[in-house]
Amino acid sequence: MEISILIKVGVIGAKGKMGSTVVDTVIKDKNLELVLAVDKFQAGQTVYGEIKIENNLEKGLLDKKPDVVVDFTQPDTIFENIKIYLKNNIKSVIGTTGLKKEQIEEIQKLSKENNTGIIIAPNFSIGAILMMQFAATASKYFSNAEIIEYHHNQKKDAPSGTSIKTAQMMMKNNDNFKLGNCPETETIQGARGGNYSEDNKGNIQIHAVRMPGFVASQQVIFGADGQVLKIHHDTINRECYMSGVVLAINYLYKNNEFIYGLENIL
Ligand SMILES: NC(=O)c1ccc[n+]([C@@H]2O[C@H](COP(=O)([O-])OP(=O)(O)OC[C@H]3O[C@@H](n4cnc5c(N)ncnc54)[C@H](O)[C@@H]3O)[C@@H](O)[C@H]2O)c1
Repeated sequence: MEISILIKVGVIGAKGKMGSTVVDTVIKDKNLELVLAVDKFQAGQTVYGEIKIENNLEKGLLDKKPDVVVDFTQPDTIFENIKIYLKNNIKSVIGTTGLKKEQIEEIQKLSKENNTGIIIAPNFSIGAILMMQFAATASKYFSNAEIIEYHHNQKKDAPSGTSIKTAQMMMKNNDNFKLGNCPETETIQGARGGNYSEDNKGNIQIHAVRMPGFVASQQVIFGADGQVLKIHHDTINRECYMSGVVLAINYLYKNNEFIYGLENIL
């Protein structure tokens, strides 16, 4: 007989666009129980008429003791939130973007020291993960590559976490992309986008578009003599992220590791 588990989940940023979609998903999932909702917006009100929205993250964690929290807050708060999860040995699924490379390295160290698992995924949609993997494969065969990412105009960080993760995956197969083939001059600063490089290697231009109408899209463009390859992914709505979020919650409940990128648990 299969024993069903009930995982106690906390949602941090519960009133936001992503957080409220996660709340709906947790409520509908028979293996998940919503025990904690935290948001600095509408604190004191309730979600689904029963879970009070807490303002104090650490107090909420200590009172409700979730097995796993899911964080979709904002770039300016995520590093501090993660330190609170790790200090209190709470496993966390992090969807919030904007973490810097040095911060991710420190989180990995703290996760090990505190023996507390964490999954950081700049993108939870399977189509986007495949787009990144296809781009990484194509990188072996093309000399030039640029990324254009498109998001709604409420997004605070640029470029997106997904575009940075894509560039990192591409660089594993080609760390010496070319830019133009002649000396370039920008007559308007930023016209050629931002250059993603690590240790002076990489050279992938990233362009960020922000406007109403988009949820999240990305195109990776490869060029070589006489040919262009475009790999494009569109997010139509926020439901597309939810199967990845649920997968991460279940994985983390059973495992206790540091993971960066959903592709590592698919
Ligand atoms: N990983 C992914 O697949 C994925 C997908 C979409 C968006 N994102 C990222 O998720 C994050 C949230 O996006 P969104 O569109 O839902 O934003 P949003 O602004 O709609 O929601 C953020 C919520 O967090 C709350 N919040 C902010 N700081 C807080 C704090 N210190 N404590 C408690 N609550 C706090 C805000 O009040 C708000 O309700 C962004 O970083 C975005 O880039 C990731």
